[in-house]
Amino acid sequence: MTFSLEALRRWPDVEAPDLVATDAADRLILDESAAARADVAAGAVTVIGDAYGALTLASAAEGGRSIRVHQDPLAGEHALAANAERFGLGGTFASRGLDADLVRDARVVLVRLPRSLEALRDIVGLVAAHASPEVVVFAGGRVKHMSPTMNDVLREGFDRIDVTHARQKSRVLIARGPHDGHDPLPRAERHGALTVCALGGVFAGTSIDIGTRFLLEHLPSQIPGSEAVDLACGTGVVAAALALRHPQLHVYACDQSAAAVTSARATATANGVADRVEVVRDDMLSARADASASFIALNPPFHSGAAVHEGIAPRLFVDAARVLRPSAELWTVWNSALRYRAALERLVGPTRQIARNAKFTVTVSTRR
Ligand SMILES: C[S@@+](CC[C@H](N)C(=O)[O-])C[C@H]1O[C@@H](n2cnc3c(N)ncnc32)[C@H](O)[C@@H]1O
Repeated sequence: MTFSLEALRRWPDVEAPDLVATDAADRLILDESAAARADVAAGAVTVIGDAYGALTLASAAEGGRSIRVHQDPLAGEHALAANAERFGLGGTFASRGLDADLVRDARVVLVRLPRSLEALRDIVGLVAAHASPEVVVFAGGRVKHMSPTMNDVLREGFDRIDVTHARQKSRVLIARGPHDGHDPLPRAERHGALTVCALGGVFAGTSIDIGTRFLLEHLPSQIPGSEAVDLACGTGVVAAALALRHPQLHVYACDQSAAAVTSARATATANGVADRVEVVRDDMLSARADASASFIALNPPFHSGAAVHEGIAPRLFVDAARVLRPSAELWTVWNSALRYRAALERLVGPTRQIARNAKFTVTVSTRR
């Protein structure tokens, strides 16, 4: 199948008529960077934040080879691989972590701007530290998700920032002249006995989200068995809290976000429980066997990238149900407006309300 942006799919991520695989910002980044990409040798192009492969595969379709790519969500990585397979573009790129090897000596860096300024700061520091001094960065996004402060963050690591005209409500910032680079390191914040560490862009950063706080207040004082699962762990705040409260407990924490996994490992280390908290990058609990867990805690996601979509959490309920043993429990916090109770009853089993405040509900669902 010949590559075209129109034929790009989000699969295996959630697909729905209102969720797109590529948009005008991808097209503007590609158009603005076309001449620069054509001018550099194989291996000199890096892509950061590609949603489903538009930037990487359009570059590859135009002859780019050995493209290095970082995508924070594992679903994006899987979709890029699936799209590459369909278009016969496998082998043109390599997926990497957000580290020096991703950008070392790169001459052209395409960035889909993250929503979080701290996540952008991590990218700017890394590129400025390790890319070629000649590097040109094309960082673009939808105007509604961009702010003038993004230019300031780019200026922290680059001498010159040019801003393109807006096209179809998208814009690209072009940065040259790297300086003052640094490797991304999780930031830390203390909350009483608990320290939370976070790289930029991870849910709630180094703070503790109010929904998470509500869940932590209402988790049971006894955990059945010797292991708990923190599904969609983010910074690992729930995993670390469980490990601190229960000194014999082993905690299995997982998240599909690379930044979340790095953060959760740092949080476990900062709280002295790294020997009992295992952190895995995974799409839901795909690495876990059926009926292998006796307790799962979950503060489910309700976003897919920038889009709020209520189809995301039920997928996690289904996988939690698969992994729970019969009679084992899923403890969940959710925004009361989302009315997840019926879905939990249907997908997991009998569901009891434990607590409810103006905004959140905590429930326990027992696997039938
Ligand atoms: C609302 S946050 C909760 C994070 C953390 N448990 C807390 O309470 O602060 C939801 C998390 O779900 C993760 N996530 C989204 N889709 C996922 C998936 N398919 N598999 C694993 N984690 C996922 C996101 O990366 C995010 O960290």
